[in-house]
Amino acid sequence: MNITVIGAQWGDEGKGKIVDYLAADAQIIVRFSGGANAGHTIVIGNEQFALHLVPSGVLYPDKRVILGSGMVIDPEALFDELAMLESRGINWNDRVFISDRAHLVLPRYREMDRQMEAARKRPIGTTGRGIGLAYSMKASRDGVRLADLSDEDRLVNLEEKDIEYIKKWRGRLLALAIDLPSFLYNHKNNYTLFEGAQGALLDLDSGTYPFVSSGMSGAAGAAAQGGIGPRKIDRVLGVFKAYSTRVGNGPFPSEFDEHSQSSLCQFIRDTGREYGVTTGRPRRCGYLDLVALRYACLVNSIDSLVLTHLDVYDTLDDFEACVAYKVNGKLLEYFPAGIGDLAKAEPVLRKFKGWNKAVKHTRAYEELPMEAREYIAFIEEYCETPVDIVSVGYERSDTIVRKSPWTR
Ligand code: GDP
Ligand code: IMO
Ligand code: MG
Repeated sequence: MNITVIGAQWGDEGKGKIVDYLAADAQIIVRFSGGANAGHTIVIGNEQFALHLVPSGVLYPDKRVILGSGMVIDPEALFDELAMLESRGINWNDRVFISDRAHLVLPRYREMDRQMEAARKRPIGTTGRGIGLAYSMKASRDGVRLADLSDEDRLVNLEEKDIEYIKKWRGRLLALAIDLPSFLYNHKNNYTLFEGAQGALLDLDSGTYPFVSSGMSGAAGAAAQGGIGPRKIDRVLGVFKAYSTRVGNGPFPSEFDEHSQSSLCQFIRDTGREYGVTTGRPRRCGYLDLVALRYACLVNSIDSLVLTHLDVYDTLDDFEACVAYKVNGKLLEYFPAGIGDLAKAEPVLRKFKGWNKAVKHTRAYEELPMEAREYIAFIEEYCETPVDIVSVGYERSDTIVRKSPWTR
């Protein structure tokens, strides 16, 4: 059985926590997009792990994890991360693999990423990890895949210093290389999770272009870039927070306030620990944007939603969610492509009652406060998609499963 897990907002929805949780019942986890721009956090007891490139199932001793064909891999970042895991007692030998169709991030891509940002009048706010460059090189057919590393003929167009760099890493990279489609075919009876990075609204095609990342972070990426055909995916899960966050620039209609000075923004940021895992940047915060979430469900065929960070709202008397936009005085109930429209969009807000109760230790859905269940029921109705899992804290065990995605 194959399940795809994507972020349904602008990233950092808690994909790492959810993939780690669901991985208990899987044998294989494939990360299908992005690179070291991602930061996926997993908390188990007193231990916290921040993963950038290695898929989130790696903390279990017996799961096989694969960096998929759609990823762009910075070898230094990867082997630093693997060394970090090893130093913390995670033995990854013989169970971390890389698709030989995955592309490399070369050091000059990182430099160019930073230079291009500095030259932009309206910077994107990239993570500076060379991600956009790696995907541009791939699209312009000047990229380097793992499969090319031992083929001297494929390297002739590169600069001398690129070749030196490649030679330095090639042995270690090729030791982990696999042909992903045949690997998945040979393990077709396994339970496999396809782990997305970034989020639906950072997807190159469906996101808030140009304020997006450059990979396929939507559900389609799992098939195109995970090494499997689209009809083999049994279920798509979309992870979203009880509120919204965004790192970097770009439109954010339900943002609390442009300069993040409001007490509500400060409260959410502190309570939800809303600081970037990769860059440490404070995240911009806002109410849940249901217009955007419904759009994410629609364009990604999300079968069921996973709500995280419900606990962050525990102490609020009331809160709001965005149910439509007003653009130039006109009501808009869909997510527009135009950045100008989104930037101008004023959120139409609906009020919800808070529950004033800690939900962290709740494990049965029926035991959640009535007000929390009413909020969830509204989201389900608005998005025409069930919320099957609710996360009530950052630890692995702080999870309520209404319906396991593994049951057919
Ligand atoms: P990802 O990129 O989607 O994996 O998310 P990040 O790891 O970047 O950010 C999510 C943050 O929220 C991390 O610090 C997680 O430990 C934390 N987290 C995940 N789920 C929950 C939850 O339900 N409640 C709270 N309070 N924190 C959560
Ligand atoms: P995870 O997987 C949140 C954002 C950057 C920037 C834009 C482009 O942890 O959810 P890039 O370096 O990719 O060219 O930057 O995308 N971004 C993310 N925001 N979570 C992420 O990943 C992100 N990966 C990229 O902040 O706005
Ligand atoms: Mg993250």
